[in-house]
Amino acid sequence: MHGFPMRQSNLLALSLAALLAAGCTRESATPETAAPAANPEPAAMPAVAAETDEHSYAQPDKVKTTDLALDLRIDFASKQIAGTATYTLDWLDKAATQLVLDTRDLTIDKIEGQTGAEWTPLQFALAPADNTLGSKLTIETPARHAKVRVTYKTSPQASGLQWLEPSMTAGKKTPFMFSQSQQIHARSWVPLQDTPRVRFTYTAHVTAPENAMVLMSADNDPNAARDGDYTFTMPQKIPSYLLAIAAGDMVFEPISARAGVWAEPSMAKPAAAEFADTEKMMTTTETLYGPYRWGRYDILVLPPSFPYGGMENPRLTFATPTVIVGDQSLVSLIAHELAHSWSGNLVTFSSAKDAWLNEGFTSYVENRIIESLYGKERADMENVIERNELAVEYKELDPKLQALALKPDALPDPDGSSSATVYTKGAWFLQFLEERFGRDNFDAFLRGYFDHYAFQSIATATFVDYAKANLLAKYPGKVTEAELEEWIYQPGVPASAPKVQSQRMGLVDAARLAWLGSHKLPLPAFTSKWTTQEWVHFVEGMPETLKLEQLKQLDDAYKFTGTANGEIAQRWYPLTVRSGYADARPAIGEFLQGIGRRKLIMPTYEALAATTDGLAFSKEIYAKAKPGYHPITSGSVEKVIAEAKPKPSPAPAATPAPVTDDAAPPASG
Ligand code: BES
Ligand code: ZN
Repeated sequence: MHGFPMRQSNLLALSLAALLAAGCTRESATPETAAPAANPEPAAMPAVAAETDEHSYAQPDKVKTTDLALDLRIDFASKQIAGTATYTLDWLDKAATQLVLDTRDLTIDKIEGQTGAEWTPLQFALAPADNTLGSKLTIETPARHAKVRVTYKTSPQASGLQWLEPSMTAGKKTPFMFSQSQQIHARSWVPLQDTPRVRFTYTAHVTAPENAMVLMSADNDPNAARDGDYTFTMPQKIPSYLLAIAAGDMVFEPISARAGVWAEPSMAKPAAAEFADTEKMMTTTETLYGPYRWGRYDILVLPPSFPYGGMENPRLTFATPTVIVGDQSLVSLIAHELAHSWSGNLVTFSSAKDAWLNEGFTSYVENRIIESLYGKERADMENVIERNELAVEYKELDPKLQALALKPDALPDPDGSSSATVYTKGAWFLQFLEERFGRDNFDAFLRGYFDHYAFQSIATATFVDYAKANLLAKYPGKVTEAELEEWIYQPGVPASAPKVQSQRMGLVDAARLAWLGSHKLPLPAFTSKWTTQEWVHFVEGMPETLKLEQLKQLDDAYKFTGTANGEIAQRWYPLTVRSGYADARPAIGEFLQGIGRRKLIMPTYEALAATTDGLAFSKEIYAKAKPGYHPITSGSVEKVIAEAKPKPSPAPAATPAPVTDDAAPPASG
């Protein structure tokens, strides 16, 4: 994440007053990089295979798991889960004699097949591990058994689990563990067909120490007795990446009859207050897209090491505590994870190449929920922030990763897709369709789509066919097939992309420009009404570097250094690092050690790694932070440190950094 360079001449020419007088309702420039990237490939029909998943060894065309029954023991002392996984199998290929499962770092003790009431041992081979995919487990099943049972244990380093010492929890007394299965980490805690092409129901019997509550992506009972022995049922068919488990000192706080929060005791009430609008979000989404089909919707607030903002585990969203900021300004995270109950969990991508079918649709629905609950201005501000991020990312992003539907060779690592593409361009495409077809028609289309493909996993090509039949052909003359295909298969953002207007972000731009030109900060009466989104935009639109006295002036007025708002910290600290503002160092150290959410901390690590002195500091901090980081976060930080090409640390800028002519202000309103 980088600041936006700006033209110096603009800074001096503009003042807040002048902009206010002009009305400030200007349309945002579509980000300059929104034009198709250089050398787009010729428009051609996609080489997207509808039914392959190169990130799994499973062979679901031959045999599919229809149900998974887990019997597991959680052992905090050894940081292991051990037990059995029993699969009910549907043998599609009557000639098949093997069951192939995905695993990573698992110890396989024995495998049995059921014949009548008898369990008999089966031969198996565990292949050497591939770095990305793990180890292929091939089980000989000459009798095509209706049930197969694997007895196994996990490794303490399982990539999909994090084991927290009591010191890393809010309560400091009991250990905690949680899973993060997406994209392909379920295989590190359960041997299974780890591809979203396979959907299965599941049950689980889990034992844990008596003081630990256990929750899963299943039918958690708010009144369950905490006795160390738990059972779960997930009666709807889910893909493997939605398998989830957590254990620790968690208590329940209701939000409504069907929604609530699970969290460590000190976090439960603040979390329920922050997420008080959850029921309203549910009814809003139901009005738009049909009933919520999963029974309860609860939110588990995890300790701050959770590597993501949120994870849409069915019936139990996992969420970072960093969105609990006291003013509900970051609840679009809940809107997002809830939206996945339709886009993603109900209609699921069939491989990570089609991630936009989950995340783009979800980001679109998220924005509709925000608009409905908090108004169009808030929804537009969130769009402005996202689209500016896309503009920055697309300056350097490989064009192959700019297509919504990725070709198989574009994604060797399933976590390697671009969030600007799958989230922002994906949502933008649906906003384009909504604009062209009209909201009523498009809402009806989406509702029909969620119904039609409910509990199925599909590829982009299936969506394209459905959209051609149910939108393009139904309402002729609105969108051409060429336009649709440009959005889906070509890099860049098409010129047909709708623009976003945000008056409030325009005012923020004006305030920033005025300050940069005059050193006069906007009047407190003006900024006192700003929300997180406006502060984020204010900081994000700053030049690449600022002078020390400028940073100090902002800090004195707004106390950015040490902010409890991670979204602001995510943008402020890299700016201080690039500018050589040493005053922020101690707070940066605390920030990087206190939070493991990748999106929030990586920009600061990246900025630090750009100079020799910063890199040394980042290594020092990382050494202290690492025991508290999730393997996913450690992996990202280690990559940045290993690939750093630091330059000697510059003397702090006494004069503004040189400004190049092609620099452009951010899109804003
Ligand atoms: N499903 C994602 C998280 C994810 C994506 C995990 C890909 C692993 C691989 C989740 O719904 C998500 O998008 N989380 C966002 C939150 C958000 C509000 C956009 C995050 O964690 O930043
Ligand atoms: Zn998502």
